[in-house]
Amino acid sequence: MSDRLHTLSGYFHEYQKSVAQPEEFWARIADSFHWKKRWDKVLDWNFDEPNVNWFVKGKLNITENILERHLFTIGDRPAIIWEPNDPSEEGRTITYRELYHEVCKFSNALKAKGIQKGDKVIIYMPMVPEAAIAMLACARIGAVHSVVFAGFSSSALSDRIIDCGAKAVLTSDGNFRGNKKIAVKAVVDEALEKAPVDTVIVYQRTRQDVIMKEGRDHWWHDVIDGIADTNKAEEMDSEDMLFILYTSGSTGKPKGVVHTTGGYMVYTKYSFENVFQYSPGDVYWCTADIGWITGHSYIVYGPLLSGATSLMFEGVPTFPDAGRFWAVVEKYKVNTFYTAPTAIRALQAYGTDPIEPYDLSSLKVLGSVGEPINEEAWHWYHTHVGKSKCPIVDTWWQTETGGIMVSPLAGITPTKPAYATLPLPGVQLCIVDAEGKELKGNSVEGNLCVKFPWPSMIRTTYGDHDRCKQTYFSTYKGMYFTGDGVKRDHDGYYRILGRVDDVINVSGHRMGTAEVENAINEHPLVIESAVVGFPHEVKGQGIYAYVICDMKNRTEENLTNEIKDTVSKIIGPIAKPDKVQIVSGLPKTRSGKIMRRILRKVAEGSVENLGDTSTLLDPEVVEQIIAGRK
Ligand code: WTA
Repeated sequence: MSDRLHTLSGYFHEYQKSVAQPEEFWARIADSFHWKKRWDKVLDWNFDEPNVNWFVKGKLNITENILERHLFTIGDRPAIIWEPNDPSEEGRTITYRELYHEVCKFSNALKAKGIQKGDKVIIYMPMVPEAAIAMLACARIGAVHSVVFAGFSSSALSDRIIDCGAKAVLTSDGNFRGNKKIAVKAVVDEALEKAPVDTVIVYQRTRQDVIMKEGRDHWWHDVIDGIADTNKAEEMDSEDMLFILYTSGSTGKPKGVVHTTGGYMVYTKYSFENVFQYSPGDVYWCTADIGWITGHSYIVYGPLLSGATSLMFEGVPTFPDAGRFWAVVEKYKVNTFYTAPTAIRALQAYGTDPIEPYDLSSLKVLGSVGEPINEEAWHWYHTHVGKSKCPIVDTWWQTETGGIMVSPLAGITPTKPAYATLPLPGVQLCIVDAEGKELKGNSVEGNLCVKFPWPSMIRTTYGDHDRCKQTYFSTYKGMYFTGDGVKRDHDGYYRILGRVDDVINVSGHRMGTAEVENAINEHPLVIESAVVGFPHEVKGQGIYAYVICDMKNRTEENLTNEIKDTVSKIIGPIAKPDKVQIVSGLPKTRSGKIMRRILRKVAEGSVENLGDTSTLLDPEVVEQIIAGRK
């Protein structure tokens, strides 16, 4: 039976069923996969511990549902099309049959290097097909992958290696990005000084010089040389860990979000096919990096489980010029294009000239993810990229949700600019006020929660289950709290308003304010800092840092640059503050709490209406801060 929704009434019907009888609903979807042993019970859960088990005692391997499942039916269909950074370099096409053999080979190589079921493997690689092969090879043998975005610094990398206790790191010599050649292995080497591992496997991409440590470091092409290109996939329990993905929260340390095998598999495929209305043979392109959840669920797992052709792009939207995305769409006749509002806004700034030369008539569906899309960007995307004929699916979800939760179904759900519209079947949303009281009916605004489990939800935060409980399941009892504010309008449509916690969304990437503050505080002359977000034309939100320093003999400009560099070095360039204001004090209450509300107002430039400042220890500080605003 097909699980595809085709009409709006069909959607409403399925949605009702999924709420009335969730277990029957998901069992029916899960039945279309290959299980080595069927589950005993569909769902076992409570949100107090929390403890959530889907497809209890089911046995499977997710890669069998990607590889063996497609081998004899669509073995010759492209699974991955790869477009390199430099358009003059030849791209690659990997069919499902080739993918099967590549994954088998590399998983055999991992095994030969002593990697076993349950071992943690860090993947720190550029956007090359081998990154996806590495993920699937881990899944094939039951090793747990943790992909770290290759733009993160060595210290961010070593923190993650230590936190998950990784045995191996998979990486590359370097990375091509625009007109730059970036060292990758050298960053790994630095990270491994603090966080040693047994094995490093290096994919040769840029051919730049690297140091290979005898006994520890091996070339990718050497480890697969002469190795068998078939094997039997490891039998995994439905609730065995599939991957850990680190993401920022409101406290200082990134947390390892844990996803498990069975539920994640079922949900990513189901959501991929329904949201994008994927038809066999379509070319689908998601521009995310595999270092983020979007790359996991909607470049690798969702599309490949569906037998789709997933395009992977190594480069950046503006190299060699701002028409690159459209050149790639034309070249491969892309049918579905899924990107982030920040990329749309960045390209919007170049006007429509870079689009004109290209034939975009293959496009059927456009997608948006990662941050709220403003109406202007939505209209630009719709008119100039989609030529007013492609539905836009504004997909709301999170690293923790594993898959898309709220989104139009392409061509089925009537869209409304800036609205993620309606929940997918199986997703039971709930809007609550600050006290946790459910706000029923339409035309309400509050905090977004989910009151019933869905298959691809977070199971724990690695090594610290209590943190998972505190962060997501304690704010509002009996519910998963998303951290986002939301409005449900008179039509029952959902509009995501942005984070209500101390998380800033910079170009669709989550940054914890505390995490950035910790990095700033590493600078030896910094005494104290406070970081807030502010509206940024391209990035959605920018990072504004207020810093108290011992100036020594530095000029303000020198110190500001040093502080920015410190953050780049400790976290990565994506966390670099856009603005740094040196201040003599921070607005604190008598109990010593920084009043961020005031700092946010100043950063966004609305200094007229600062609200109640009577509880401040030293109201004069505010005047000084306003006077020195950047
Ligand atoms: C935000 C990315 C508005 C939101 C998949 C969420 C969005 C956070 C949207 C998760 C959207 C994501 N509209 N906001 N369509 N999609 N967000 O974990 O604040 O990197 O909580 O997952 O991004 O970011 P994450």
